[in-house]
Amino acid sequence: MNNIERRLSTNVLVIGTGGSGLRAAIELAEEGFDVVAVGKRSRLDAHTSLAAGGINAALGTMDPQDSWQQHAADTIQEGYHLAHPQTVEIVARGAEQGIRDLERYGMTFAREDDGRISQRFFGAHSWRRTAFAGDYTGLEIQRTLVARAEQLDVSILDGLYVTRILVEDNVVFGAYAFDVSDGTRYVIQADAVVLAAGGHNRIWRRSSSRRDENTGDSFRLAVDAGARLRDAELVQFHPSGIIEPESAAGTLISEAARGEGGILRNALGERFMERYDPERRELSTRDRVAFAAYTEIKEGRGTAAGGVWLDISHLPRELIMSRLPRVYQTMLELQMLDVTREAMQVAPTAHYSMGGVWVRPTDHGTDVEGLYAVGEAASGLHGANRLGGNSLIELLVYGRIVGQAAAQYTAGVTTSRRSQGATDRARAEVDALLAAHGPENVRALQRAVRDTMTDHAGVVRDEAGLTTGLAQIEHIVERTGDVGIHPDIAGFQDLAHAFDLKGSLLAARATLESALERRESRGCHNRSDHPDRDENLQVNLVWSPATGVVREAIPPVPEEISQHYREVSTVGKLVE
Ligand code: FUM
Repeated sequence: MNNIERRLSTNVLVIGTGGSGLRAAIELAEEGFDVVAVGKRSRLDAHTSLAAGGINAALGTMDPQDSWQQHAADTIQEGYHLAHPQTVEIVARGAEQGIRDLERYGMTFAREDDGRISQRFFGAHSWRRTAFAGDYTGLEIQRTLVARAEQLDVSILDGLYVTRILVEDNVVFGAYAFDVSDGTRYVIQADAVVLAAGGHNRIWRRSSSRRDENTGDSFRLAVDAGARLRDAELVQFHPSGIIEPESAAGTLISEAARGEGGILRNALGERFMERYDPERRELSTRDRVAFAAYTEIKEGRGTAAGGVWLDISHLPRELIMSRLPRVYQTMLELQMLDVTREAMQVAPTAHYSMGGVWVRPTDHGTDVEGLYAVGEAASGLHGANRLGGNSLIELLVYGRIVGQAAAQYTAGVTTSRRSQGATDRARAEVDALLAAHGPENVRALQRAVRDTMTDHAGVVRDEAGLTTGLAQIEHIVERTGDVGIHPDIAGFQDLAHAFDLKGSLLAARATLESALERRESRGCHNRSDHPDRDENLQVNLVWSPATGVVREAIPPVPEEISQHYREVSTVGKLVE
């Protein structure tokens, strides 16, 4: 066994090397602070690289009538009034600077012939507001941020798995980690910690995340450190995940496919969105399109494989090649299907955690002093339905803000807190897992979590299912007492999976308990036993293991934003 334990010391530790973590690290480095960024995957393969269709800002390059106020109004209205108005305002106002920052770092955007940044429609936006780089926008952003961070000599450590955030008297002082390839342990001492380790959408069987990402790591790290979660039940199911092969089920077909003119049909050939949202059809909100696809499949109008058809074959081949190249490549690679000639079969896939760690809107600080959360790990922007393209701009805007906040906090730290006890407990936790030789397999238990969440907390939920789901999760928790962890010559992946499982179990419990409490249907959260919206539940649900679910009021929306609300048909939400 590898008994090496290294010690590192820095001003700020960033956990997660996707877009939000890197953007925060860049801000800190530009301000002259020492920053270490660690990620369990390699930097160029962080989850941000999978984000496809685009990034929102009311630049007005295509539709000059657009404004930050309209962007904010669309976000709040289409989030079913559960977003925090201040968070929304900060993102919508700061979006243009987010794009300019990317341009400053050298990002290549799609442009019109005269040099303007191109912007396309994404579902439920009032104007063309989504800037893009083909349908590889996230990959291009990730490459740009990695290049900028490296230029600034940010210390980025790939393949480091953080097991605990170290805290003493509710003040953060670093984290405990191990190297996934050789098991070397790390005690990383830091005055502030930025948690940017994603969400929990991989705890469903069909997900747009890969097997070991978005497993709820941020939720567990934050809660163990003393923070709370907000709206864990609000999980976005994207309407178009592929169905086959099973090993890649859930892989995303970007909303850009619909934005560019793709059409959805059921097995009878009906363009079914005409029934659910006659005006916006395929460009309706994600929750409506996902719910519509789910309903078509559930009521027997789906394809034999259990999906609906998404067809872009009527679009010009050159348009597909230039604006949807990833869709083309993905379908060829996974199914040998040429989307310029044939329709794709798709079904809803778990895609994004709209809830996350409870944070203040101003600086994304948590309940723990010196601990910040950002990106999909955090909460507040999306409410009960995220507009496509808002997650990428969120990470640019709040990455900058969190970097500045952590810098300011660190500058004011006069005595660095340490606790041998907290470090010893973190070390003992890893020791105990490495000594575990029971018969239960962590990967099989992770599969059991995914089955439970898929069967009982999917697109449509009810009290009986959620209660059964909770009992099943408790049973899986009991079984974790008998796991065996077997690092081998190839590395310590098994240990990483054991911690992934801990995160998933906590995230599952928070999701189920919050979903039980939200006795209404709103946005992504459909309760067949409570099909109406309940205005008393226009609140956020804040969860911790100690308090359970507590309601939190949402401040009023400033008139400058609310005057931009538009008439939106509710036909699409058949259960509303
Ligand atoms: O469909 C997509 O391209 C996803 C974009 C997003 O989730 O923002």
